[in-house]
Amino acid sequence: MTYARVKGTGSYLPERVMTNAELEQLVDTSDRWIRERTGICERRIVADDQSCRDLAMIAASRALDAAGLQPGDIDLIILGTCTPDRVFPSTACLVQAGLGVNPGAVAFDVSAACSGFIYALDVANRFITTGGARRALVIGSETMSRIIDWTDRGTCVLFGDGAGALVLEADDETGILSTHLHADGGCEDLLNVPWGVSQGYDALSGSAGKLKMRGNEVFKVAVRTLGRIVDETLEANGLAKSDVDWLIPHQANIRIIQATAKKLGLPMEQVVQTVAEHGNTSAASIPLAFDVAVRDGRIRRGELLLLEAFGGGFTWGSALIRY
Ligand SMILES: CC(C)(COP(=O)(O)OP(=O)(O)OC[C@H]1O[C@@H](n2cnc3c(N)ncnc32)[C@H](O)[C@@H]1OP(=O)(O)O)[C@@H](O)C(=O)NCCC(=O)NCCS
Repeated sequence: MTYARVKGTGSYLPERVMTNAELEQLVDTSDRWIRERTGICERRIVADDQSCRDLAMIAASRALDAAGLQPGDIDLIILGTCTPDRVFPSTACLVQAGLGVNPGAVAFDVSAACSGFIYALDVANRFITTGGARRALVIGSETMSRIIDWTDRGTCVLFGDGAGALVLEADDETGILSTHLHADGGCEDLLNVPWGVSQGYDALSGSAGKLKMRGNEVFKVAVRTLGRIVDETLEANGLAKSDVDWLIPHQANIRIIQATAKKLGLPMEQVVQTVAEHGNTSAASIPLAFDVAVRDGRIRRGELLLLEAFGGGFTWGSALIRY
């Protein structure tokens, strides 16, 4: 049996820190409200001359270093993003060229909003376990600040920029145990960015073409849905809640994370939390959190990790990994 094993992790956050106090100057909000309702204290914002590709390349280089591999060792790149550099080439292709990954490797983006990394991980796992690739870079990279309406207090306090990456390698030893993906396209009006290439560019200027969210309604669906996927994942593997060593959730809101941890009966000490410093970095949030907890020594080899995400689409998914 071939597994996809996590060989290395990497991440990158842009230098610029935006605090809640700064947001108080932009919209009618307060540091206290943001901390209490979301758990967020600050977030990072890309520099004017940085793009999704730039963040992804640094995170991917760090993951390769951690794995002890070279770009030439990689034969698959899958990148989750909803803020790509271009319509095409895909950001994955731009990363391939930038890093010097073999011409001829497979490279493509997946679009599943905040679930983008879990979707990318699922596809990479399928490539590796069926012999379609041996070593994969799976990346989540986002420049959310570019699609935020900085006059909308209901959304602009939530998001941040960043990138995270995993290197997966085919291995006889256990690795990714299962992945679970779902979508429901019927709730588009609750969370969307209402412009796209085929609809023309009229909405690009001003706030019309920026991210829209009915936060309270999204919140309720997210809590319900994530509770269900936790059960689905454990049942599929015949495991108990108490078998999970670490929950690595999508970092949207500390209250959503707490609800999922409660459902798992997991103390918050076993939940990787980066939402306070990163905000919601969409597809980048899980690999960013993963890398933070590997590098600070919390996550150790052999431990059982449950990753879960929920986002626009709606899309949602999970992965169970023996690290
Ligand atoms: C956005 C979110 C933080 C709002 O928190 P909430 O507790 O649901 O708050 P509500 O939307 O019910 O708003 C409560 C009040 O706070 C106000 N409010 C909203 N944003 C505010 C802000 N930044 N500062 C101060 N007040 C704010 C609202 O206008 C509302 O005021 P009203 O009662 O006078 O109408 C929360 O709903 C959330 O995190 N939603 C899901 C996020 C998510 O998961 N997104 C995408 C999935 S990736």
